[in-house]
Amino acid sequence: MTNIFDNLEGEDSVFKDIKPLDHRFLPEHLPHRKEQITSIAKYWVEALNNVAPSDITIYGKTGTGKTAAAKFAKEQLKEAAKNKSIFVKVEYIRCTDYTTEYQVIAHLCQQLGRDVPHRGWTKAEVINTFRDIFKTNAFGKKLILIVILDEIDILLQKDGDGILYTLTRTENVSVLSISNYLDFKKFIKPRVMSSLRDREIVFPPYNAEQLSDILQERSRLSFDKGVLDDDVIPLCSAMAAKEEGDARYALDLLRTAGELADEKDSEIIHGNFVREAKDRIEHNKITDIIITLPTQQQRVLEALLNLTKENKEITSGKLYDAYKLVSKGDSVTYRRIFDFINELEMLGIISTNTISRGRGKGRTNIISLQCDTDLLESTLYSL
Ligand SMILES: Nc1ncnc2c1ncn2[C@@H]1O[C@H](COP(=O)(O)OP(=O)(O)OP(=O)(O)O)[C@@H](O)[C@H]1O
Ligand SMILES: [Mg+2]
Repeated sequence: MTNIFDNLEGEDSVFKDIKPLDHRFLPEHLPHRKEQITSIAKYWVEALNNVAPSDITIYGKTGTGKTAAAKFAKEQLKEAAKNKSIFVKVEYIRCTDYTTEYQVIAHLCQQLGRDVPHRGWTKAEVINTFRDIFKTNAFGKKLILIVILDEIDILLQKDGDGILYTLTRTENVSVLSISNYLDFKKFIKPRVMSSLRDREIVFPPYNAEQLSDILQERSRLSFDKGVLDDDVIPLCSAMAAKEEGDARYALDLLRTAGELADEKDSEIIHGNFVREAKDRIEHNKITDIIITLPTQQQRVLEALLNLTKENKEITSGKLYDAYKLVSKGDSVTYRRIFDFINELEMLGIISTNTISRGRGKGRTNIISLQCDTDLLESTLYSL
């Protein structure tokens, strides 16, 4: 009997190995991040002298290599500590997985060999257990712990700054926070700020040339020679440089272009596949955002779609009226609509433009859709 996987397994592919194009792949080199990684190392080297290093904050837009650089530094420090009789631990925590202080501290305790339940204890009990680890000399040696809090904005927004207070007030613990926003410290109260004496490292966006170097390295691991047309990498790099220098997007373009080549049974990845890849990624991104929005926001989009199709100039007042029609009595207040408009604008689905109606008549916000109307319509009606 034939198995459905038989024909698929050995199928021809442009990929030698697709893994290096995955976001989670940690490359051996990080071109154009030497300066930032060296900065981290200069602070962390203290740990090798058995001293808790300064706290560090890393800022940068999405896809600028923050997570990759922190993990790279973590591996390097681990290796350096191995050759010395120093007991250093670096724990990486993604704050989308551990969203409260309790969860983070409990997780740290578990990683350090203490049995703490995921829930049920009071916060104070968990914190005391954590602090206890540093009182008793772990394995007879003094333990230095570095905690990487990736996407810390999410934790601070959801659970406040208690986590930073606890970690910075525990002896021998150092924190490396990673944030997408320069102003994330607005979530931190002065009391906590004073114990977080952090050093800041900024990750600037990559330009097209730098993205091209990054893609060259990864494509060598993923493709055999001759598979890529000459213009593929320059195209991916130029497009991603326009999207705020996002290396993740550049890698996505390259991988998707390769997948398109496979789908088309082409042995070569051509430049026009990259343009097609751009549309496909855009398409998936917008549908992903729309289907995960709360129902009331989807209704706002539906109202916006209706008005757009009628070619009307859309003010917030008009939008609210149209929204009430769509939501048939189950609607939120006019004030909430402003929050929704802001959120949708941040997600890049709509844009607003303030115009002046002339003297004494005040100013009006004009709202317009920034995504393809057909795509929006098909997504909304598929829900
Ligand atoms: N200098 C680099 N060299 C090689 N690969 C890189 C480099 N910078 C980023 N990358 C790769 O690009 C992708 C995105 O990088 P990373 O996840 O580190 O970005 P980030 O700044 O953490 O983004 P976000 O804010 O969205 O979390 C990863 O696959 C990473 O390996
Ligand atoms: Mg990251």
